[in-house]
Amino acid sequence: GKVAVVCGGWSAEREVSLTSGKAVLEALLTKGVDAHHFDPKETDISKLRDYDRVFNVLHGTFGEDGSLQGVLDGFNIPYTGCGVLASAIAMDKFRNRLVWQALDLPNVPYVVLDDNTDFTAIEQQLGLPLFVKPAAEGSSVGVFKIKEAGELAKTYPQLKQYHGAILAEKAITGGEYACSILGDEVLPSIRIIPTTEFYDYEAKYNRDDTVYQCPSDLSEAQEQTMQQIARKAFAAIGGKGWSRVDFLRDDEGTLYLLELNTVPGMTSHSLVPMAAKARGMDFATLCVRILEQTLS
Ligand code: DAL
Ligand code: MG
Repeated sequence: GKVAVVCGGWSAEREVSLTSGKAVLEALLTKGVDAHHFDPKETDISKLRDYDRVFNVLHGTFGEDGSLQGVLDGFNIPYTGCGVLASAIAMDKFRNRLVWQALDLPNVPYVVLDDNTDFTAIEQQLGLPLFVKPAAEGSSVGVFKIKEAGELAKTYPQLKQYHGAILAEKAITGGEYACSILGDEVLPSIRIIPTTEFYDYEAKYNRDDTVYQCPSDLSEAQEQTMQQIARKAFAAIGGKGWSRVDFLRDDEGTLYLLELNTVPGMTSHSLVPMAAKARGMDFATLCVRILEQTLS
């Protein structure tokens, strides 16, 4: 049948999504799939009714938060990845953590900020540096590293343009990792070593000097632990299909869940394709595997 590769949209991650969409579309075409580009910013969403299945690479607002999933449920069109509930939970880093906390999964220590917060007290509680971020953005959009006393109060107003909660997080410095989930499988973890202050938008998409290790430097036991936590984190929100779970490791080797992405990037710089490659799976085969989830 006809497959819509849904991408673009109107979030801050629009450009990333268009890049993901182009890569997925080209890959599916090489595999003989009758795939078509579909950008809900340019095309009326009701036109999705002309398709049999959807490959969703619409990151962020509308595509990753359960909204598109609800529309497609209503149209009775199968789609890749998580359903309404898991998508909506994962899109909100604060509510997602509440779920993980309830199940004793290890979260990065954080505080929710508002206008009445004593910012100096938070800087003391979490220590410096710390990170401040909007709960409902992706690709590190709106993330700031706070290095000096007093900087949190000055930076906070800039975060208010984003919707959802604003989080301050402890900086955990032993390493950044990502663990991809594909159906029943957990793919080998990737370690990310940015040359920037942290793995920001630049390091993710525009720089060629970010170092990726896959397989990562984790011991076999730690790799098993990370994969187990990733599985539990995915199950906790009722995840389905595929996702990427991001972690931090402290200097003692303890692992912390950072977030879960239900519509992970599929650009040439992206992590799920890298992990699949480490398993001997090329990009086009990965795309077909993800698309096959719509048949089950
Ligand atoms: N939010 C971006 C696309 C990612 O998680 O890969
Ligand atoms: Mg994200």
